[in-house]
Amino acid sequence: MCGISGYIGEKNNSIKIVFNILKKLEYRGYDSSGIATIFNKKILIKKSIGKLVNLKKIILKHQIGSNISIGHIRWATHGKPSRNNAHPHTDATKNIAIVHNGVIENYIELKKKYCINDEEIVSDTDTEIIVHIIKKNYKNDLFSAVRNVLREVKGSYAFALICKNEPDRIICAVNESPLVIGVGDKENFIASDVSAILKYTKKIVFLKNGDVAEIKKNNIIIRDIENNIKNMQIKTIKDENCSYIRKNKYKHFMLKEIFEQPYVIKNILKDVICLNKNKNYENEFKFFKNIIKNISYIYIIGCGSSYHSGLIAKLLFENFANIRTEVDIASEFRYRNPILNENTLVIVISQSGETADTLAALRFAKNKKCKTFAICNVMNSSLSREADKTIFTKCGQEIGVASTKAFIGQLVILYLLVFELSNKKGIINNHEFKKIIVELLDVPKKIFKILKNTKSIINIAEKIKGKKNFLYLGRNLNYPIALEGALKLKEISYIHAEGYAAGEMKHGPIALVDKSMIVVFIAIKKSKVYKKIISNIEEIKARNGTIVLITNEKNIEIKNKSDYVIYIPKINDYLSPIISIVPLQLLAYYIGVFKKCDIDHPRNLAKSVTVE
Ligand code: F6R
Repeated sequence: MCGISGYIGEKNNSIKIVFNILKKLEYRGYDSSGIATIFNKKILIKKSIGKLVNLKKIILKHQIGSNISIGHIRWATHGKPSRNNAHPHTDATKNIAIVHNGVIENYIELKKKYCINDEEIVSDTDTEIIVHIIKKNYKNDLFSAVRNVLREVKGSYAFALICKNEPDRIICAVNESPLVIGVGDKENFIASDVSAILKYTKKIVFLKNGDVAEIKKNNIIIRDIENNIKNMQIKTIKDENCSYIRKNKYKHFMLKEIFEQPYVIKNILKDVICLNKNKNYENEFKFFKNIIKNISYIYIIGCGSSYHSGLIAKLLFENFANIRTEVDIASEFRYRNPILNENTLVIVISQSGETADTLAALRFAKNKKCKTFAICNVMNSSLSREADKTIFTKCGQEIGVASTKAFIGQLVILYLLVFELSNKKGIINNHEFKKIIVELLDVPKKIFKILKNTKSIINIAEKIKGKKNFLYLGRNLNYPIALEGALKLKEISYIHAEGYAAGEMKHGPIALVDKSMIVVFIAIKKSKVYKKIISNIEEIKARNGTIVLITNEKNIEIKNKSDYVIYIPKINDYLSPIISIVPLQLLAYYIGVFKKCDIDHPRNLAKSVTVE
């Protein structure tokens, strides 16, 4: 969360460049933003609260020519969204400006140690303390002042700083937060992720933990905190789709991305199945099948929607590939003492590949000598660079903050891994494997069918949009879908929603049920838990709950047990999660639209969660 940008070079429209980079980083947070530049030997700061359009108005008013600037887009951790808390921050004399992504854990101790008075401080942030301390350490060399202070700083950070007395350099430092340098011709750039600067250069330096960099227009030097020069590797990035992504006919990116889901599935399957024509995934599957030979169990780690896809994969791996599989939320996994060793395969799942907790979990697993495998959507992301091997979901950039197509992409990849393994172990034979692939190939058609008939979902959304509490209930493979459906509703419409295992409901949550409670059930006709879920529906009906039922078309026998029905095409139970999630995404979307919520930028959220 939070995005950092920077420019130093020959051009004197650095503010515009830094702003344009921030625009590409807006998915990381959007509660405030700001830019610091050096102009007439002074540091000038422009800040604004809210989305970047507000900052744009300010910078357009003051056209300042400068060839060095740093910028920031914030997602609040310490201090509420306000102009004072927006970055960049400066010391009291406005000599030095800083932008920061991450969390400084010991800023209160540092404040005491360096006797920083409350009167000097204008914000509630952890970041501002650091710039005051750097100023105290400053002896005409920002590079060494930063290194000295970093010896004492605990926490995660990507910093960029400028100093009015040294207008020829930007200083950056990194620990557990991403930052890249874009190497240009007589100019250099910085950004929190690669895609934000690919418009300017494809030559990228990925900063590593402990790096402190001096960036000049013609030169870059990286040192460690002890002042030793570190080797710098410049990578040329290829195959990145830099085209500007538009909403086209869709009102929101989220809707567009929901409608892209059949194509996501088709693309993955096309690449995997036509192995002889298109060897896109061959290496990844080979790697997976090779390492799995010596694996005694799998751990799947993720956050949010990526965690939910992991929950489904656990059931599939155990059921179809007969391999013990644990799933954990990344922020829990890394602070437990999970039993891990070199025979454990840790699969990390992340759309962005930058989620701080998932990255930390990956590093934790690597320290324990586990084999690691990432499922990721964003090429060149930190996770994909650090895992032993990465398989990309290739869904295209997901812009809507609520994950939709990336979740589907993860599921399809996980299904393929499970069945490849199952086939390799002889649990399913080649004929059965082919049959599964044929069934998978049919899934996009089924999703198209749901997408062609959104009217009934829109009608239901309109009727229930005013309700305050929702329960989402499912069993077995559709229990994680209940969690995911509830998550979508919370994110998009700010309605309180809980996902629950339907059988667990009678152990507590049923006390909440009355006619004001909306209960969304997923009941797949051929599933082994179908009869059980019917009983759960009866239990809710008996308590006057309002039931929204997701079930297969032509399943009229339970129509009169529910208040609203959304039909999905017939599908074998084991594949049902891939399509049962689609009406839930649409339901959340349309309720959010009726409530006039900011669909693509829900409050308090960011697309990439780069703080713990
Ligand atoms: C839900 C959502 C989040 C993410 C979570 C993990 O719609 O978008 O819950 O799934 O923040 O993000 P990634 O997958 O980027 O690690």
